[in-house]
Amino acid sequence: MEILVIGQGAREHAIVRSLLKDPGVNVYCAPGNPGISQDAPIHAVDPNNSDSVVALARELNVNLVVIGPEAPLVAGVADALREAGFATFGPSKAAAQLEGSKAFAKEIMNAANVPTAKAHLCTTSEQVETALADFGSPYVVKDDGLAAGKGVVVTNDHDEAFTHAMACINGRAGGAVVIEEFLDGPEVSLFGVTDGHVIVPLSPAQDFKRVGDEDEGPNTGGMGAYTPLPWAPENLVQEVHASVLQPMIDEMAKRGTPFAGLLYAGLALTKNGVRVIEFNARFGDPETQVVLARLQSPLSELLYAAATEQLAELAPLEWNPDSAITVVLAAQGYPESPVLGAPISGIAEAEAHGVDVYHAGTANSGDDLVVSGGRVLSVTAMGSDLAQARLTAYQAVEIIEFTGGHHRTDIAKKAAQGEIQL
Ligand code: AMP
Ligand code: GLY
Repeated sequence: MEILVIGQGAREHAIVRSLLKDPGVNVYCAPGNPGISQDAPIHAVDPNNSDSVVALARELNVNLVVIGPEAPLVAGVADALREAGFATFGPSKAAAQLEGSKAFAKEIMNAANVPTAKAHLCTTSEQVETALADFGSPYVVKDDGLAAGKGVVVTNDHDEAFTHAMACINGRAGGAVVIEEFLDGPEVSLFGVTDGHVIVPLSPAQDFKRVGDEDEGPNTGGMGAYTPLPWAPENLVQEVHASVLQPMIDEMAKRGTPFAGLLYAGLALTKNGVRVIEFNARFGDPETQVVLARLQSPLSELLYAAATEQLAELAPLEWNPDSAITVVLAAQGYPESPVLGAPISGIAEAEAHGVDVYHAGTANSGDDLVVSGGRVLSVTAMGSDLAQARLTAYQAVEIIEFTGGHHRTDIAKKAAQGEIQL
């Protein structure tokens, strides 16, 4: 099978490596990055330009296209590929609105009776004031549109909440902001692979969104992740499948906009039960790095079955019982103002230590590999339990160097020490 992966982050690097484990599979990536180029041929194509992506898929004569990031999905690249006859893993533009618009996602959740935070959609300062007063602190204020995980402010500070809300409203034509109830409880990322009818849940993971240890500092795209979750209720996946994943795809199908691809449910396990925080229309980054590390069934068969409406016939997925963790190495100044250009060393030595180092914000500059984005690398390790996986990952992290680089030191720490209470 010939597979084209669209994207350029650590998530796509992990997807490429995972696909390459399957016998008889060839992988290409566009646009890719310097790390991916060591594993598979990369092609300098704009991932958001449907015509260019379709032309590349034709040129390479691929059997399957896998779309990693949200931007091409929201731009309709999956629709163009399907129209051109390519089996495509990734939802249509219409279905990707589950991620593209928080208000749309709320509407579908309400129609499908899926448990989520109560929310108000606001477009004026009066509505913002009323909603903030209604819900009280901590305030949760979300840009209605795509913001790469950075449009959300959770704060006890009324002025900060109000200022962010007005910035969302005034930030673009038709700007709107969602203000909602604060959900208290540990967060879980649960991915479902779906062909629009059947949805297959993957292993649940936990992401670390804040930049600093102990969840200090601003939100980021994600600073690390681990799976499985030793503290999670045994029936969690079954319950979320029945009360969240299946109702969502049934509702989308009912509306004539079936969701086929990866449905990412961001959940809070509150005292009152599971609540959805958000949906994404794609694999999560960095959760994918750990989830795929444990997947033993062939990823190519899973994604191809989803892209061709054959999930009902697929054998149940098999998982490695071991634990996986990933630690994101970020650029100096990330997330506010990443400093680019620092040379990076130690990746090969770290990999010799038994980890996978996935590239995200890296570029070649002369003979050097340099920092080219906020999240730079994702160091992924397996272990017989979380404590072992942590040990291996953090030993490898110490070997990699670039000026000003920073990472969290507490990824999976509480879980490994049995300190997460429900
Ligand atoms: P989102 O982009 O909606 O996933 O939000 C980013 C992060 O903000 C989430 O992972 C949570 O940590 C936090 N967050 C979002 N909504 C809520 C909420 N209603 N209650 C508590 N925390 C939230
Ligand atoms: N790790 C969060 C996300 O992918 O949106």
